[in-house]
Amino acid sequence: MEEALNQIRTLASGFEKTRDHLLRARHLPGDVYSSNEIYALEKDRIFMTHWLSVGRVEEIPNVGDYMTFSVMNEPIIISRTGPETVNVCMNMCLHRGVAVASGCGHAKDFSCPYHAWLFDVGGKLIAAPGMKESEVDFRDAKLKQLPVKIWRGWIFTNFSSEPPSFEDYIEPYERELWWFQSGECRLADKVEIDVKCNWKFLVENLIDIYHVGVIHKSTFGGFVKGEKIGFQLEKDGGWHTQYQARPHSKSGEQVFPTLPWAKEESSGIACKAGIYPNLNLSMRSDSLRMWHVWPMSPDSTRIVCYLLFPEAAFSIPNYDEEMTKYKSFVRQIITEDAVMVESLQNASGSRFFVPGPMAPLEQALHHMEKHYIDLMTSAT
Ligand code: FES
Ligand SMILES: [Fe+2]
Repeated sequence: MEEALNQIRTLASGFEKTRDHLLRARHLPGDVYSSNEIYALEKDRIFMTHWLSVGRVEEIPNVGDYMTFSVMNEPIIISRTGPETVNVCMNMCLHRGVAVASGCGHAKDFSCPYHAWLFDVGGKLIAAPGMKESEVDFRDAKLKQLPVKIWRGWIFTNFSSEPPSFEDYIEPYERELWWFQSGECRLADKVEIDVKCNWKFLVENLIDIYHVGVIHKSTFGGFVKGEKIGFQLEKDGGWHTQYQARPHSKSGEQVFPTLPWAKEESSGIACKAGIYPNLNLSMRSDSLRMWHVWPMSPDSTRIVCYLLFPEAAFSIPNYDEEMTKYKSFVRQIITEDAVMVESLQNASGSRFFVPGPMAPLEQALHHMEKHYIDLMTSAT
């Protein structure tokens, strides 16, 4: 970690430029997007300490349902252990560390594929064959348990041994995001795409309304009224905003029924929020989306878009056809973005790269980057 901290120290003058007033500020130094050491420090200071959404409750509806996942190579099992209980634990056998579960599905228990130690779906050890003579007390043995909080249908967990208060973390969004009633929606599908860039470029891209009228002009950019967008900034790099756009469809026409809580609003309402580090929430009058951005390596990232609709949407007459069109529309938007962020990634490693000035429309991005600098330069 010393190497990473040294690198961070060498970036001090670049960070000062990012911290300057928005109208004079410059983007982050290229090294934070390409260095292996800084990536490791981000794991330590960001992904292993922040609350992270790892999926939806409805993805594991029945007792025994489970899914497996990895956050920066830390494998976990997310399982339904009771009608009202969701469990998250490390997917790492207590014997040698092999993953005891894989993929997703339904299980009565997990048998480690290496030497067959047996765990219940919550991770409690229930049998260790060939270990009768061992002097180790296995009575309370369990896969390492992680804390779980549920918010509006999302499962949050935290890898820290001393996690900060979830209620404090979520409070601004619980208070302000009247439009993101994701607990009242159902998951229609997920769109997943791997992009060859650092995770921060994608998080920034999802905030960046400045580019929408340019690269998305053939998809949805023409419908966004960008010049007047103001952001409400929240603590710890969070933000949200409301503006005028059209539903996500090629023609801009609304296809799915209006969200019950948006009936009094104009049909052109659009809302967006960012919860640090990796969540981006968005609403059009007929739908919600949550984007999860997962670092895979310093220069590769997986983006997962959860497509959420109220119950009435699932019974429109031509649902399958409309959903196929909607999914390909979302995929096309990400594909348009991917070309840009991969080019940014290339630039960040160039010896000639100089961070450019921020645009006034990059206010939320500026807010988030200052928070990033705080986290990466803090003394602890
Ligand atoms: S590693 Fe799991 S039983 Fe040996
Ligand atoms: Fe975009």
